[in-house]
Amino acid sequence: MAISVLQTLSAHLGAAFEAVDLPVEYGRVSLSDKSAPYQCNGALAAAKLAKKPPRDIATTIVKHLEGNNDIALAEIAGPGFINLTPSGALLQRRALELNADTRVGARDADVLATIIVDFGGANVAKPMHVGHLRSAVIGESLKRIFRFRGHKVIGDVHLGDWGLQMGHLISELADEQPDLVYFDAVTTDGYPEDSPVTMQDMARLYPQASAKSKADPYRLKKSQIATAELQSGRPGYRALLEHFIRVSIAYLKKGYGELGVEYDLWKGEASVDPLIPGMIDAMKAQNITEESDGALIIPVDDNYDMEKRKGIPPVMLRARTGAVLYHTTDLATLLDRKNEIDPDLILYVVDQRQATHFEQVFRAAVKAGWYSREQLEHLGFGTVNGKDGKPFTTRAGGVLKLSDLTKMMREAAAARLEKSGIGQDFGAAERAEIADKVGMAALKFADLQNQRTTNYVFDVERFVSFEGKTGPYLLYATVRIKSLLRKAKDKGVALGDICPNEPAEQKLVLTLDGFNRALAAAEAKRMPHILCDHVYTLAQAFSKFYAACPVLADHVAADVKSSRLALAALTLKQLEVGLGLLGIETPERM
Ligand code: ARG
Repeated sequence: MAISVLQTLSAHLGAAFEAVDLPVEYGRVSLSDKSAPYQCNGALAAAKLAKKPPRDIATTIVKHLEGNNDIALAEIAGPGFINLTPSGALLQRRALELNADTRVGARDADVLATIIVDFGGANVAKPMHVGHLRSAVIGESLKRIFRFRGHKVIGDVHLGDWGLQMGHLISELADEQPDLVYFDAVTTDGYPEDSPVTMQDMARLYPQASAKSKADPYRLKKSQIATAELQSGRPGYRALLEHFIRVSIAYLKKGYGELGVEYDLWKGEASVDPLIPGMIDAMKAQNITEESDGALIIPVDDNYDMEKRKGIPPVMLRARTGAVLYHTTDLATLLDRKNEIDPDLILYVVDQRQATHFEQVFRAAVKAGWYSREQLEHLGFGTVNGKDGKPFTTRAGGVLKLSDLTKMMREAAAARLEKSGIGQDFGAAERAEIADKVGMAALKFADLQNQRTTNYVFDVERFVSFEGKTGPYLLYATVRIKSLLRKAKDKGVALGDICPNEPAEQKLVLTLDGFNRALAAAEAKRMPHILCDHVYTLAQAFSKFYAACPVLADHVAADVKSSRLALAALTLKQLEVGLGLLGIETPERM
C-alpha cells in the first residue's frame, strides 16, 4: 500500500529506534516548519527509558540512517531533535504513486461505517434562509468527504413538515377557499390529484397566517386546532399535507440542486408520524416516561433544576394538548433510522442554537436503548452575520431568502469578472456559466473555510475577490493550469515522469502528499475547513512553483518540461477533487 512521505520517514525512524532496542513509537515523525520539512523528537522522549542524554540517542539514530536512500539529510538540533529532509528519490516515488492514483492520494478510513447525515432541514412552506444555507453547504461537504473516505453515507433532508406552520397553511387556505373538498368534514377520500396550491401560494399563505396569528390570539387558535386535527389524522388535512410536501419537494429539489446539494432521502417529520403511538407505548412500558402537568415527558438529567434553570430539561414527548412536538418527531426519526438503516453513526448538521434540543433527544434515545451516546452527534454551526455583527437579514430587516442570496452572489461575481476583464471575448452563455461557478465557489468557500462552529461576517465583495483565501482565487488557480495544459498540447509537449528536483517542485510534491492527512483530519473533526486549508495551501504551492520553474519556455530541457507539466496536471487533479469534496465546481477557462 502506498503511504505518505511522513509515514515512510516514520517507518525508517521507527526501525532505527528498534535497532537500538528502543520502542518503535519513538520514531514518530511530525511535520515541521523549521529548517527541514519533518522532525522526530523521539530521542528526547526516550532519554529517560534509555538513561542516556537525548543528544547521544539522536546521534546513534542518525548514524543508523546513514545511507538510507529515502533521506537526504538527518540533522540533530538543540537538545536532540532530529530534523529530516526527504530525498529526491522518495519524493519522485511518491509523486508517481499520487499520479497513478484515481483518488490522488486519499485512502479509506481505517474503520468503515454506515453514516446518516441529517442536513438541510428546510421547512415546508417557509422560505429557505441563510441558516438553511449553512446546513446544506456544510452537510453536503461532510457527506462527500465521508463518502470519499470509503464510508457508506446516506444524506437525509429531514423536512420540517409537521408543526404549526402546517396548521397555519391549512387554516389560511380554509379562509380563502372554504369550498375546497379538503375542508368538507364528510368527504374522507377521493381527493383530487392536482395540488390546490402552488409554491407561490404557500409562500403567500404562510406569512399571512403567521402575521395574523401574532396580532390575534383567536386566529392563532385556529392554526393550532388545524395542526392538532392534522396530527390526529383528519383525512382532508392529510391529503392537503401531501400536496404541500410534494409541491415543496419539487421546489426544494431545484433550490438545493442549484447549490449542488443532493439527498438520498427526502423524509421528514410527517413521515415518521405512524411510528409515534407505538413508540410512546414502548417508552411507557420501559418506565422511562413521566406524567408532568398533563404532559408526557422523559427526564434526561438527574441534576436538572427547573427553578435555577440548571441542567438539561426533560424531553417533551407529548404536550398537555395531546400534540406531539419537535422532540417527538426527532425521536421517532431515530427509531425509524434504527429500523430501516441501523447506522453506526448519525451526524446532525444543524444550527448551534439547537444544541440543547439534540442533547435532550440523544439522551432519550440512549435511555430507550436504541443507540449509544457516541453514535449520535450534533454538528452545530455559527450564524452568518452582517457587518454590524448581528445575524444577516435583508435591508428591511427580514429573513434573507436563499434564492435572493444566491442571486446576489451571482451578480457580484458577474460584476467582478466584468471589472477584471475576464472572459470578455467569450460568448454570453459561457460568461454566465462562469459567473455562476465563481459566485457559488465564493459563497461556499467563504462559508466552509471558517471553523464550523464560529460565526462569520457576510461580505460579498471580499468573497468574490480573486485575491486572498477565496473561492474565486482557487478557481483561478485551476483554470490557470488548464490553460497551461492546453498550451502544452498545442506545442506538442507531452506529460512525462515527475522528477522533483527544484525546491519549489519538492515543496509542491510534499503539499500534494498532505491530501490524505487533511481528509483524515477533516473527517475526524467533522470540519471541512481543514480541507479548505489544504486546497488553499496547494494553490499557493503551485503558484510558487509556477513562478520559480518555467514549464514551456524554450530553454527548458524536454524531459524537464514534461515532468513539470505532469506535476501541474497532478496538482490540477487534486485541486479539482478537493474542491469537488467542498461542493465547488470549476470552469474550463476564465
Ligand atoms: N427544520 C429544522 C429547522 O428549520 C431543522 C431540522 C434539523 N434536523 C433535525 N433532525 N431536527 O430548524
